[in-house]
Amino acid sequence: MSADKLKEYVWIRIKNIISSEMMKCFTILKDKSKSKRGVRSAPEMRNQTNNSDNSRTRRGTRSTGSVSSSKSIPEMYRDKQHNLRVFSPSELREATNNFSRLLKIGEGGFGSVYKARIRPPDGQGDPIIVAIKKLNTQGLQGHKQWVAEVQFLGVLDNPNLVKLIGYCAADGERGIQRLLVYEYMQNKSLEDHLFNRAVPAIPWKTRLRIILGAAQGMVYLHEGLEVQVIYRDFKSSNVLLDKDFNPKLSDFGLAREGPEGDLTHVSTAPVGTYGYAAPEYVEVGHLSTKSDVYSFGVVLYELLTGRRAIERNRPTMEQKLLDWVKQFPVEGRTFSMIIDPRIRNQYSLNAARRIAKLADSCLSKIANNRPTMNEVVEILQQALQDTEGETSSGVRPAESSKYNGLIASDKHLNKMGVGPSTRQIPVVQRS
Ligand SMILES: Nc1ncnc2c1ncn2[C@@H]1O[C@H](COP(=O)(O)OP(=O)(O)OP(=O)(O)O)[C@@H](O)[C@H]1O
Ligand SMILES: [Mg+2]
Repeated sequence: MSADKLKEYVWIRIKNIISSEMMKCFTILKDKSKSKRGVRSAPEMRNQTNNSDNSRTRRGTRSTGSVSSSKSIPEMYRDKQHNLRVFSPSELREATNNFSRLLKIGEGGFGSVYKARIRPPDGQGDPIIVAIKKLNTQGLQGHKQWVAEVQFLGVLDNPNLVKLIGYCAADGERGIQRLLVYEYMQNKSLEDHLFNRAVPAIPWKTRLRIILGAAQGMVYLHEGLEVQVIYRDFKSSNVLLDKDFNPKLSDFGLAREGPEGDLTHVSTAPVGTYGYAAPEYVEVGHLSTKSDVYSFGVVLYELLTGRRAIERNRPTMEQKLLDWVKQFPVEGRTFSMIIDPRIRNQYSLNAARRIAKLADSCLSKIANNRPTMNEVVEILQQALQDTEGETSSGVRPAESSKYNGLIASDKHLNKMGVGPSTRQIPVVQRS
């Protein structure tokens, strides 16, 4: 081998090692965050503004030289924390029948989720049905993410975000206890409906309404508050569905405040879920609202195809959803092959093409070329209109009765200004 060839070979090896170490780093970081954190007590949380990602005060000098006076999330939280209920461990033990397996409705990286009943705030009237998430004391996402969840959801308020009712934090003989009490979402998550064959498939129109609502939740995060919020964990399991299939984003343990002033991104160690994270975030830790847009593009393809972002049990060529769909270009004759077989006879091809094009732009390698979530909302509204205009290929009667709740959800969507009759995107001002 010549000296030049050898140099080139060594350089390629180094690059490969670096990128494979980065990929490991990506997953390891998520695991580390799961196992290490979880050692601080609640009173500290109540007083602290730490959540290191969000701790910096925003009254600093911006890169433009102007002074920002917007409050940080921990500062806003201090003003609003009284809205959250603080539960005792015994209250939540009783509510879940001592964390009975019969009441367990899910399990994620943070711990187990239980369906439970709690007393109403004033003690009067019927009990309230809630979902209680219990931190697995072995570690997992841990205390820091628990604090972030409480602080973000204590501040955020939007019909497309899950409502946090309260929390419980206690350190004692039973060890560290961290629990979160949420509004109960009757239809679990989008993931359950897209990939679990035991659950009926969601009809085409419902899929569009769900993804539109999720997009509006993201517009609120990116543009609807004093500070910009980067969600960092957009995926189908974090889109919860209420009894009328209205979507609500959940899990803000990884959320963080966006860059200030003219800065385009913040630099941070990558955490998140493999398969959904943007390349610039995984490779160099550049995090921006456009990283969320990328994850949104992945979920758009999940919604079209009924396939997960990564499926290890498929043939090699089909394991990575984004690689697989490339074989069926959006303008090609084979495009319809990607559509979820469970809805193939009741979707709108025009709308599906529009959505695939949108997904491709969200998945652009260059973050700046991706649309904003506001633009995404506009295109999704158009796709919904394409579908409305093609009633002949609309929802099958059998399914429309199963999803009767959507009539109510239409009303709900209209209230937010996104019903079928309006093309306008809700313009949310960011101060
Ligand atoms: N508020 C809720 N109401 C009803 N079910 C819920 C609620 N929150 C979570 N679940 C159920 O519990 C499951 C687990 O949720 P969890 O957020 O703990 O994990 P995940 O999102 O699947 O994974 P990860 O920990 O990686 O985010 C969800 O998929 C959903 O089915
Ligand atoms: Mg989740």
